[in-house]
Order: sequence, then C-alpha cells, then structure tokens
Amino acid sequence: MSHNGSDATRLEWFGKARFGLFVHWGMYSVLGRGEQVMIRDLMPRAEYDPHADRFRPRADWAERLAERAVHTGAKYVVLTTRHHDGYCLFDTETHDFNAAHTGPGRDLVAEFVDAMRRAGLRVGFYYSLLNWRWPGVWDPVKHAGDLPRMVEEVRSQIRELMTRYGSVDILWYDGAALPGSAAHGMWGGHPIDRGRAAFWRSEELNAMVRELQPNILINNRSGGGADFGTPEQRVTGDPAGKAWETCMTVNYAPGWGFIRYSLANKTPGEVLFNLMDAVRLGGNFLLNVGPRPDGLIDPREGRILEELGRWMAKHGEAVYGTKPERLYPLRGRAQGPMYHYGMWTCKGTTAYFTFFYYPGTELVISKIGPGVRSARLLGSEGDLELVPMSNCRTLIRGLPETPPDPLAPVIQVEFEAPPYALTELDANWLDGTFEPRVSGAADTEVSRSV
Ligand code: GLC
Repeated sequence: MSHNGSDATRLEWFGKARFGLFVHWGMYSVLGRGEQVMIRDLMPRAEYDPHADRFRPRADWAERLAERAVHTGAKYVVLTTRHHDGYCLFDTETHDFNAAHTGPGRDLVAEFVDAMRRAGLRVGFYYSLLNWRWPGVWDPVKHAGDLPRMVEEVRSQIRELMTRYGSVDILWYDGAALPGSAAHGMWGGHPIDRGRAAFWRSEELNAMVRELQPNILINNRSGGGADFGTPEQRVTGDPAGKAWETCMTVNYAPGWGFIRYSLANKTPGEVLFNLMDAVRLGGNFLLNVGPRPDGLIDPREGRILEELGRWMAKHGEAVYGTKPERLYPLRGRAQGPMYHYGMWTCKGTTAYFTFFYYPGTELVISKIGPGVRSARLLGSEGDLELVPMSNCRTLIRGLPETPPDPLAPVIQVEFEAPPYALTELDANWLDGTFEPRVSGAADTEVSRSV
C-alpha cells in the first residue's frame, strides 16, 4: 500500500470527529420505500428507470443538507454516489443512468462537495461496487462477458470520483459481492470462484485511489486494504484495536434510503445512546438519513437531528476528541459494559460522564481511580460539591433533583491523573476498607454494577 503520511496521521481528524452523517439518496427516493426497492420489488429496468426522471432535487438541497449536518454536530458527511441500482449521482462518462442525464440534469456530487466544503465539513463518498443492472451479476455463466466490463466500469467511475471533485476525505465502499452469489440457487450455477478482492481487483483499485488521493481514508468493504472497520447497525469495537465506525439507521426496518412511512423509528435518546456507546469505546458513529426526493430531510428524521444537535451544542466536548483511555479496556480491546449510570469519555485527566440513568441529587463515583479533583455540570456554572467516601468512592452532591437535560445530562469530572477502572475487588469493601491495586488497572475492565 503506498500512501503519504503514517496511518495514524491520516486517521487523526477521523478519530477526533467521532460523529458523521450518512446520506442514502438516489432516484429510488422518489418511490419512498428504501434504497433497495428495485430488487425488493423485482422491478425490471424498464419499469425502474423512468422514475429517474421524476427525481427533481431542489437547487439548494446540498446547502440545506450541509446546514443540517453542521447543526446536528456532525463533522463529516458520506453520500451515496452510487448505490446497488447503479444510478450515479455524478456525471459519469460510462453510462447515462446518472443525475446529469436524467431528472436532476446536474452533477449532484459536485453540488454536494461544494456545499460541504463551504460549511467546513469533511467529505465522504459511498460507492457500491455491485451494480445490479449487469446481467452478469445474476448469471455470470451466461453473461460471462459482463464480468470484466463491470470491473472496468468501477475502475473508471472511481477514477472520475477521485479526480473531479478536489480532495475526498473518505471512500466508503459497499457491495463487494461476487457475481452469482446474490442469486445463488436461482440460476443453477456457482458464484464466481474467486475472493472478492481478487474479483474486484481491489488492491489495484485502492492503489490508484491512494495515488490520486494520498490522504483519503478507505473503509473495509472492498476486500482490499482498509483504514477502518464498519460494524453495521451495531456497536462493536475492533478486536485488533483498529479504527472503526458504526453505521446505523434511524428506523428499525431497516431502510437506509427515504421511507415515506417509517413506523418504527428510534427516539433521540436511543440514537444518542448508540452514538455515545460507539464513542466511549473509541469508535465513530455514522448516523444515516434518507432525504426525500427533493433533497430535504423528512420531519420525522429532522426532529431527531434537531434534538441531537441541541444536545451536541451543549455537550459536544464529551464527544469530539475523546478516547476510552483506560476506562473500557478489555485485554487491549475497547470493550466492556457501560458504567453504572451512563458512559464515560475522556481527554487526559478530564472525563465526561453522560447519564442515561439519572440518580437524582447525588452521584457516587465508584470503581474508578484516581481521586476526583472537581466536577461540574455541563451547561451550568459552578463546581459541584465533592465528598470523599470509603472504598475509594467520591460522592458528587448538588445535582438537580430531576434530569437537567431532557436527553442525557453530562458532568465534567477532573481526576488527579487519567482515569482508570478499579475492578479488582476483595472482601474488604464489605467493611468499607477497600484499597485499590493500581498496578493491574490498565488490563482490567469496568465490571457491571453490583
Ligand atoms: C446494508 C444495506 C445497504 C446499505 C448499507 C449501508 O448493507 O443493504 O443498502 O447501503 O447497509 O451500510
């Protein structure tokens, strides 16, 4: 892999950003039944394609999206430049099934990049290697001639994306399926007998990408070399301690593209819980929205973004630039259950505690070392009262009786040194004489509340 700078340097902004917006948007939005409506409803191309002419985004969609992202507290936005239906939001020379040659009549990727940059946001391109429109995807024996053309199409389009829009911060691959695999059992043959990376020539493709965009971050879905992992709809740390990003929908359906009638959405509290769960374990959180065909966010999703944005404006320091430090380590991996009443995030000796379970006027900090120096509630003035207690605990007093934020209040706690978990309990705690053994602290996990 040839690229400039160390991996750690390239990944620095990403690790600090922690929170991004994922945008699934394409001509399928017109139908309002998710991004996979073509295959779900088995729509032939002749039935599906004309909808592209009904796809008429507003002129200011990208600007409004950028405003939204900033307002929500996201630091980067990843847009589906092409999904599995093969429709390109950019003006590609490879085929006319794209935004410039159908309803929009414009290069939407150019508008996107322009608006995000102006708003100070980092830019990511989602790109599906798989393109359902090739018969070879479904029957690679009968349509064997498609296979090299599919790979070539990807290469040409990726080259277009990497050369026409200035610097791109993230390339977010998806759909590196092998021809025949999706239709296995239907067409009677066997999927292409090669690894994904070998079929899509991912190493070669990514070498080209890194040559053209030396600072880009590439996700792990091309089968080739990757900068970060992509747990989908779940929060799981990387076992090898590599960078990772949870992507998640607002709805439970789940649909990533616009769903006109989505009946089971997460509440702002659920979204925030997942976001903080990823952040406390050292991961990023990529929250998905599926804009309407005109490009605006639907009020149902909008309300969630609004509430999250309000929370982030007040508590963002508990998110950006934080690390798990030694609070959630489990044999080198960031793992382990959340801390009794909520979740910790850290920046050196400063730690933030986000409550998901509010204790009332007093909070006992237990099983965490070293000593607490001060504590204050974010969004209000003055220090909270501290009372040392037995068993290495600290009592924080003077919290409002009811949660001071409708979502999740946060207190900022200064420790004497970067905090660590104290989990090696012995029976002495029953007498109130528990003394921590600090030596093993880095290698233990925060135990569940007893
Ligand atoms: C799932 C969906 C796909 C979506 C992706 C995002 O794989 O099937 O449509 O783009 O998640 O990670």
